[in-house]
Amino acid sequence: MNYTNLLFEIVNNVAHVTINRPDKLNALNNATLNELYEVFLSIEHNPEVRAVVLTGSGEKAFVAGADISELNKLTPLAAKDFAEKGQKIFSFIEHLSKPVIAAVNGFALGGGCELALACHIRLTSENAKFGQPEINLGIIPGYGGTQRLTRLINSSKALEYILTADFIDAQTALQLGLVNHVYPLSELITAAKELAEKIAAKPAQAVRLALKAIHAIKELPQSQGEIYEASLFALATGTEDFKEGTTAFLQKRKPDFTHK
Ligand code: COA
Repeated sequence: MNYTNLLFEIVNNVAHVTINRPDKLNALNNATLNELYEVFLSIEHNPEVRAVVLTGSGEKAFVAGADISELNKLTPLAAKDFAEKGQKIFSFIEHLSKPVIAAVNGFALGGGCELALACHIRLTSENAKFGQPEINLGIIPGYGGTQRLTRLINSSKALEYILTADFIDAQTALQLGLVNHVYPLSELITAAKELAEKIAAKPAQAVRLALKAIHAIKELPQSQGEIYEASLFALATGTEDFKEGTTAFLQKRKPDFTHK
């Protein structure tokens, strides 16, 4: 599949997706959003892919938000469709059965921050700036930012960032638990690739079940979450890799996983 606004390749079972509109700081226009959905749909159905790295083109931005030239023309009805479409696509990414690592290489603002929040792990460069500056445009976050930022970091801090539009630098993002690690920009992609390949080497079905179980904390109370966890734990014992992993341990050899 050829994309206009994305770069895409698969290396060592890791899909590398790069949003590629550097002259617009990788702002998400409608065409880019459509391609993002297409690429993640293809990733979900491609058994060769076991992890994803998502980043932005250039040295300045991950994604500087939804494309303001398109936002400017929205009517209330179109705006509702616009928000629901973005929410659906970001929710699809969040529910992907393979881990998605955001390599945040610069500005992650508005829809860019929301996209990073929908990913499972966030690594960032020292120059990165996160933020929800929608309030400065007379709107509010519409791609899940009010929900995901508020659940991920201290809710009063999230409220402050959304109401002030203040940017969050990389070290503050680390302290807030918004990102997992901070790297010099020149090392970010290598770090993301190494992490993705490390996870891609783990038994894919167990990775998938772990993602499902952890995701449930957003929707289920602990007692039901534990019932769900037990069911997924039980399912894992039906995989070939469960037999291989446990047998290899007992035979004191390295496991040879087939991801089945
Ligand atoms: N939508 C559309 N175009 C955008 C954009 C966005 N969200 N963010 C940046 N761009 C475009 C600029 O219009 C400019 O295009 P041009 O060269 O054709 O004029 C280009 O990207 C470079 O941006 P510029 O503003 O010149 O870079 P800067 O280094 O001075 O500032 C930012 C960087 C990120 C601080 C600034 O671009 C910005 O505030 N962007 C909007 C962020 C935002 O509000 N996002 C939320 C949207 S809901």
